[in-house]
Amino acid sequence: MAFLDKHKAIETHATLLLVLSFLVVTIGGIVQIVPLFYIENTIEKVEGMRPYTPLELAGKDIYVREGCYVCHSQMIRPMRDEVERYGHYSLAAESMYDRPFQWGSKRTGPDLARVGGRYSDEWHQDHFRDPKSVVPESVMPPYAFLFRTPIDGRYIADSMKTNAVFGVPYTSEMIEAAQADFIAQADPDADTGGLLERYGERVDVRNFDGQPQLTEADALIAYIQVLGTMVDFSTFQPDPLR
Ligand code: HEC
Repeated sequence: MAFLDKHKAIETHATLLLVLSFLVVTIGGIVQIVPLFYIENTIEKVEGMRPYTPLELAGKDIYVREGCYVCHSQMIRPMRDEVERYGHYSLAAESMYDRPFQWGSKRTGPDLARVGGRYSDEWHQDHFRDPKSVVPESVMPPYAFLFRTPIDGRYIADSMKTNAVFGVPYTSEMIEAAQADFIAQADPDADTGGLLERYGERVDVRNFDGQPQLTEADALIAYIQVLGTMVDFSTFQPDPLR
């Protein structure tokens, strides 16, 4: 057949085959990639999402520093076993301010995407000091040193500025007040009017580590307790056009 003869020509000429393959791949690439330049956002906007407060952001930095992601993921997949165990599946918007994202692919411990509010601060204090004291079979290492490591937030404005470069909407007002907000969030007696005005009324203000001094444990527990709590799933409706 004439058609097959022509195809033989392509298959026996390496250069022609290469040029034509390249053409096909290019067209395929253009079809997939070009539309992304014309839609404004690939992430569905969801009510309730806000950037982390300075103290929570410090907690996230400690989480990354300690490599918690080696054993914990932060992404609930939309499968029944996961949704029944952990809660509503994760939305893209819920990690849009996470740089780097913490989705993870390894679960030696449970997924943490919705662990916020599931346990008391006291539970986390005991668990981070000595995981086996609350979960006897736990293989999680202890992090008691976090309770002995004071912090004062002197560098947190720099971390916020870096996040802002990558699109996290920290305003110059938030960055200016960073250290004050950092300290206020862990102090139930502080004037937190500014903090709540900047980050919303639902920000938790309390002594997270249960000790008088401000430590890394305050920041880490503040971060853990906000995970997965920003979106109100009793009112959330997925966008039907997506
Ligand atoms: C060597 C692996 C490992 C590392 C590293 C690790 N964890 Fe865990 N984690 C576990 C395991 C296993 C469990 C389940 C048993 C338990 O509760 O201790 C767990 C449980 C937890 C829980 C309770 C989750 C739930 O839903 O019950 C939290 C919160 C947690 N880890 C936070 C952290 C944080 C924060 C870090 C980093 C500072 C960290 N983990 C580091 C293995 C790890």
